[in-house]
Amino acid sequence: MSDFHTLTISEVKQETPNSVSISFNVPDALVETFRFTAGQYLTLKHRLNDKEERRAYSLCSSPSEAILKVGVKKVPDGRFSVFANTKLKAGDTLEVMPPQGTFVLEPQPDVNYAAFAAGSGITPILAIVKAAMEVGGDGKFLLVYGNQSMRETMFASELLQLQKEHPTRLFLEFIYSRTQEEEALFGRIERSTVNFLLKNKFEDTTFNDYFLCGPEPMIDLVSATLKEQGVNEKQIHFELFTTAEEGLLVESHDGNTEITVTVDDETDSFVMSQKNSVLEAVLEQGLDAPYSCQGGICSTCIARIKEGKAEMRKNQILTDGEIAEGLILTCQAHPTTAKLVIDYDDV
Ligand code: FES
Repeated sequence: MSDFHTLTISEVKQETPNSVSISFNVPDALVETFRFTAGQYLTLKHRLNDKEERRAYSLCSSPSEAILKVGVKKVPDGRFSVFANTKLKAGDTLEVMPPQGTFVLEPQPDVNYAAFAAGSGITPILAIVKAAMEVGGDGKFLLVYGNQSMRETMFASELLQLQKEHPTRLFLEFIYSRTQEEEALFGRIERSTVNFLLKNKFEDTTFNDYFLCGPEPMIDLVSATLKEQGVNEKQIHFELFTTAEEGLLVESHDGNTEITVTVDDETDSFVMSQKNSVLEAVLEQGLDAPYSCQGGICSTCIARIKEGKAEMRKNQILTDGEIAEGLILTCQAHPTTAKLVIDYDDV
């Protein structure tokens, strides 16, 4: 089920002192496999110090560009991101899973969109902005983009170039928390920023959809402010780029569970400790279950509970209705019953 392909890197470009973009060549035979919608991500796999590392990175190229490009920001002590920023070069290869993700936009002409991005959260938003501009028509796009400083702003020159090409359609609002810059707001993306932009500066524009990407507190705050302004929940789409860990752990369970797992039409049963996540136990058993971030962010690891119960440590992806239907993020789910039956194929 974990469908990886070996792709060759065509370019590694320094975007800021702490981030790079990585472009891949896609051989003709895999063009269809790697077709994507703006906003989707790739899972990259590589062995570092004899340990398999998987990371999910959003595509920042637009679906019409003939390349696959992801942005990777260096995270302190981040094994893969440091490796990508300091060692990877053109000609190297990585194992890459075809594009996934539901944080997407298939833009319509003459429709207005708005996005709020912080830091590397710009990556999928950049692809979404490009796709919206390419669709033509008069639709406006407001992008509010927060960073520490201009120097740390990923894809700033690409965005400014896009704005030059679409001066009546693309509106960029940069916000810097550490430096005062001309024609930029100072501070962070706050409630007041959202209210000022939507109720004053763009009060005559009705936005159809809102795309939020960045740390959880920013997403929660913008989302709550939009709802206060009467925006329907269905119009707000978000993707977490980092998550707060506090208060998210479920009560730990000490028992064992007899688990039955179906993946790729094969069913296995074994006993697992309830201290482990379902995904950890399934991988330990050598089963080829799908996964990527292992952090409750990407949704690659979804399975359906057929019998028994499990509790998720963290869930920002599944709706209450989906949970009631039995869906779980297996990387976050711990069994709470003596028997658990799950199916990765039935999702
Ligand atoms: S592997 Fe990403 S949510 Fe579980």
